[in-house]
Amino acid sequence: MELRSITKKNFFLNPANLKRPWREDYLAMFSSQWQGVTTDPDLMMIPIDDHLVHRGDGVFEVMRCVSGQIYQMEGHLQRLDRSAKAISLNLPSDYGRIRELIGKLVVTGGERDCIIKVILSRGPGGFGISPFESPLSHMYINVIRFRNLPDEYYEDGIPLVTSSIPIKKSFFANIKSCNYLPNVLMKMEAIEAGCKYSVGLDEDGFLAEGSTENVGILSADHVLKFPGFERTLSGITVNRVFQLADQLVKEDLIRGVEFARISLEEAYQAEEMFLTGTSLGVLPVVIYDGKRIGQGKPGRVYARLSGLLWKDMTENRDVLTRIDWEPGDSV
Ligand SMILES: Cc1ncc(COP(=O)(O)O)c(C=O)c1O
Repeated sequence: MELRSITKKNFFLNPANLKRPWREDYLAMFSSQWQGVTTDPDLMMIPIDDHLVHRGDGVFEVMRCVSGQIYQMEGHLQRLDRSAKAISLNLPSDYGRIRELIGKLVVTGGERDCIIKVILSRGPGGFGISPFESPLSHMYINVIRFRNLPDEYYEDGIPLVTSSIPIKKSFFANIKSCNYLPNVLMKMEAIEAGCKYSVGLDEDGFLAEGSTENVGILSADHVLKFPGFERTLSGITVNRVFQLADQLVKEDLIRGVEFARISLEEAYQAEEMFLTGTSLGVLPVVIYDGKRIGQGKPGRVYARLSGLLWKDMTENRDVLTRIDWEPGDSV
């Protein structure tokens, strides 16, 4: 067999490197290895010997820029700090500039609605397992065009299935690590079941979370319930939705809102069901394990919650970080 020799010179002449249409949404990337920014997807690469790649040794965050302002940036950065601390990851030297870097990168990307993915990695240092091999941790930030889910997901609701993949133990569930194999398998299972989403259960049969979403129900007796964070990631969105739901109590639309254990049976009997997450907001579930939830269409509580969340995402200056789009714009 003859193998083509790849060199720095011919690498980008290889047509196989250019045929990757999914990259058209990649707007900008910063890497602490190059100390710079690129908008060329061909250059958005991570070295194979970064322990992030071959051991999943790193943590990440995903935040959303809405109409030019970043929603809940501080909450996401606090969770990133917690995740890094939990795995004793030394913060990369550029970490102190993260807010400024994110702002600059979003402007470089040029899209006011985008997703920002920050990865902190153990860094390059060989192919072993020991994290002490890597002398320096690194930071990668990608800005990706935001693509909303199809309107019908929100208008008609989505089906959900229970996953058979064992969920993470508490310690791992609460670290947003780059080790997402269980989550990947949950997604695979959902798609193979003809759904887009699945939800895991703990060993006692109580609802945990989706592959990248938190889950909640409006119980048959009109209490809004979300699983606590013993076995799930403390989602920025679900925490905010929880606070916003106070308004629904005042409006007498629900009797209360609580973190609680939710059995499968209780979920099947729910009036309404939802998923929450940074990029999808609140998504109504209308079929769960083939059973109709409530009236089988997105309900009033969903409509009110998603309306309140959207208002928060677009108007609440306390949780929106302005970006310096024009010279003279204040940050
Ligand atoms: C496992 C998991 N659960 C829940 C969530 C939802 O969290 P957030 O609302 O902060 O996006 C995510 C987000 O990516 C996740 O990966």
